[in-house]
Amino acid sequence: MRKRWWKESVVYQIYPRSFYDSNGDGIGDLRGIIAKLDYLQALGVDVVWLSPFYASPNVDNGYDVSDYCDILPEFGKMADWQHLRQEMRQRGMRMMIDLVANHTSDQHRWFIESRQATDNRWREYYIWRPPRDGREPNNWQSYFGGSAWQFDPTTAEYYLHLFSRQQPDLNWENAEVRKEIYRVMHWWLDQGVDGFRLDVINLISKEPGLPDAAVTVDGPYQFGGQHFQYGPRLLEFLAEMKREVLAGRDLITVGETPGITTEQARAITDEENGFLNMVFSFEHLGVDRNPRGVGKGKWQRKAWKLSELKQIISRWQDDLHERAWNSVYLSNHDLPRPVSRFGDDCRYRDESAKMLATLLHTLQGTPYIYQGEEIGMTNVRFPSINDYRDVDTLNFYRQFADDQRLDRDEIMAAIYDRSRDNARTPMQWDGSRHAGFATVTPWLAVNPNYPEINVQRALAEPNSILHYYRQLIRLRKANPVIVYGRYELLLADDEQIYAFTRTLGETRLLVVLNFCGAESEEMGASGDWRLPEAMRDGQLLIGNYPVDPAVDPRRCRLRPYEARVYRLG
Ligand code: NOJ
Repeated sequence: MRKRWWKESVVYQIYPRSFYDSNGDGIGDLRGIIAKLDYLQALGVDVVWLSPFYASPNVDNGYDVSDYCDILPEFGKMADWQHLRQEMRQRGMRMMIDLVANHTSDQHRWFIESRQATDNRWREYYIWRPPRDGREPNNWQSYFGGSAWQFDPTTAEYYLHLFSRQQPDLNWENAEVRKEIYRVMHWWLDQGVDGFRLDVINLISKEPGLPDAAVTVDGPYQFGGQHFQYGPRLLEFLAEMKREVLAGRDLITVGETPGITTEQARAITDEENGFLNMVFSFEHLGVDRNPRGVGKGKWQRKAWKLSELKQIISRWQDDLHERAWNSVYLSNHDLPRPVSRFGDDCRYRDESAKMLATLLHTLQGTPYIYQGEEIGMTNVRFPSINDYRDVDTLNFYRQFADDQRLDRDEIMAAIYDRSRDNARTPMQWDGSRHAGFATVTPWLAVNPNYPEINVQRALAEPNSILHYYRQLIRLRKANPVIVYGRYELLLADDEQIYAFTRTLGETRLLVVLNFCGAESEEMGASGDWRLPEAMRDGQLLIGNYPVDPAVDPRRCRLRPYEARVYRLG
């Protein structure tokens, strides 16, 4: 397996709107990021991924871009961006930016032109179709609910939008569109970015004819992923992008790729012939979703099994090993907070956040930390829907409250569980008003638990989650086996313990994690392994509980949410 800096790096995702407000308008900004770079450097971050900061009407907080080469005024000016770039360079950090190329904002110049007439130069930049029997051209559902088509009276045709109706999909079949996107990429490379996170990049090629989706749920609109999640020209477009932009540069690239298989991921990220360095796969984050539930399960939880989570993660670990590369992540700006989802955000918040962090940093792949995860920030429960800002959440509420398919309590319970605003509440810097994020009321309220959960406290407390993240990052840097070693799952069927080894040459690590809020049984054998012996003879490298060397190494029980990493031989 080839050595690469981006395999060895740790990436930190910043959602600029919620990170730090430097100018007192209640909205995070670029200067706010500059003010916190020392914090990120001390954490050990190598690469910062910035969520969109481009000109945008902000229907989807910047994922609706109206000018790819301009800065959102609320976030600052180009000079602030250049300053940020320079300050990052000085600290040896790289910058990865978000390339939103599947769609633009409906306020983008191209779309404003495109909608004017059926025969203008920009018409083919988007996907326009006449009505079918007086209705939408097909039955596809938008990821944000409702039809994926919007009727536009000016030309009496529909345009496709897989996300909100203010995010029309670009027509990648049109070579001009592709060139425009490559121009944007070159423009930012000239400004000095080190890589791209490519938003929903596997959706860019739609099946010709745009066939109806199979009917799987009640209602008029259906999930059409089979017709666009790995479309017929996807690899061809990525090959072209590689040729036109990426080839010959030492960049970090990660494609956001919902719904793809390991085989497809391998085609995209193959060591020899791939197009991107790695992808964000979503399969492991589907374990607690009911695929036939509301919004394709997005809004409906199901009981999940640790054995299933392990099986999914292990398949990705095994199938990509030595052939391709992957990212490792448990959270981002679209997902509930991991400690609330896979841990226990009350009694065992500290232990479970550290246990999950141990998993994140010891699997094979580049770890991505989402802002606030490193202090164990949790989901939020705002009393009213009026406290929420996320377009997806508001659409969901409207849709289900309006047709009374769910009652208000059920809707709010789903929102508490799943809303993207769980991850978007402002970063909790200290215990002062608005969590030290802003001096005025922020655009989205802070989580009321900020007096206990904040960076200032975490810095002052030697055993905090934050310091544990630092240790894990150091550990990963000091042990190439964590980056390059082969992964092997132990105790595959155990519903409480996640145990695996990582092996590189003579070096082997053993990772044991308790995913329950109860003490585990005495662990026994797994395959050729006798865990008691391994844990007795191994050297404990890190753990989230104090271990008494006189007693604990012999113990093969784990305390609630306990995590340990051993070096064996
Ligand atoms: C994925 C992004 O992560 C999400 O925030 C956004 O809403 C959609 N893509 C559409 O751009």
